[in-house]
Amino acid sequence: MSADNPTSAKGNALKHVCIIMDGNGRWAKKRFMPRFAGHKAGLGALRKVVASCVEEQIEVLTVFAFSSENWRRPEKEVGLLMELFATALTREVKKLHEHNIRLRVIGELSAFSDKIRELIDAAVSLTKNNTGMIFNIAANYGGRWDITQAAQQVALKVKSGELEADAVNENVIEEHLSLNGLPEPDLFIRTGGEKRISNFILWQLAYCEFYFTDTLWPDFNKKMFIKAIDSFHARQRRFGRTGEQLNEE
Ligand code: IPE
Ligand code: IPE
Ligand code: MG
Repeated sequence: MSADNPTSAKGNALKHVCIIMDGNGRWAKKRFMPRFAGHKAGLGALRKVVASCVEEQIEVLTVFAFSSENWRRPEKEVGLLMELFATALTREVKKLHEHNIRLRVIGELSAFSDKIRELIDAAVSLTKNNTGMIFNIAANYGGRWDITQAAQQVALKVKSGELEADAVNENVIEEHLSLNGLPEPDLFIRTGGEKRISNFILWQLAYCEFYFTDTLWPDFNKKMFIKAIDSFHARQRRFGRTGEQLNEE
């Protein structure tokens, strides 16, 4: 628990929040607008949540922007999402940099166009020495992909003799995952009413606290975010132990 984290005084230490930003399409449909209008409005909601995280001194924010399964959507929607991603990378990065935020993009980036990969590289290198919040965007990300690529890296090290097979343990796997070196997510938020993980971070969600809301992502705001944080602080995180054991500490 970090002493300078103001949230720790209220309950559990909250270092890392991860969010499945779901419900953009339904938000647009309710307004008789094209799905893309929902994605655009969703970007506005994300801007506000990033600002709220900075205010709340959250150390790491990880958001699911595009899953490895989202390529299955109509070509037109995928194309528009890619354009929105490129626009956001161009327009929003300066503000992130001004707020001392370090941007990372996690996922299988080779599937993106050269242009998007260049924009990602530029944004990541611009912000790489920042010391404030770490902001991870999961794009073409899948939890199973992440564990598989880690296993592949480990297998190569065993093959080359750099690592003994017997030495492969949970820490070794973890060191090769996309979020390596960061605190595990403490709070998982999913908007849009669905109660599933949809192949988001799998390994590190093992002991995460889940919070689901029916609010559609473009409507999600600071008040709702604080409600989720309050719910998190009211919980007892037992990590396998009994409530009595924790009360004795
Ligand atoms: C989440 O909103 C955004 C992405 C998956 C890119 P959706 O587009 O899934 O919205 P719904 O679930 O159809 O309402
Ligand atoms: C999960 O949302 C992915 C993102 C929010 C980027 P989906 O809307 O794609 O999830 P499913 O398909 O309903 O599980
Ligand atoms: Mg959805």
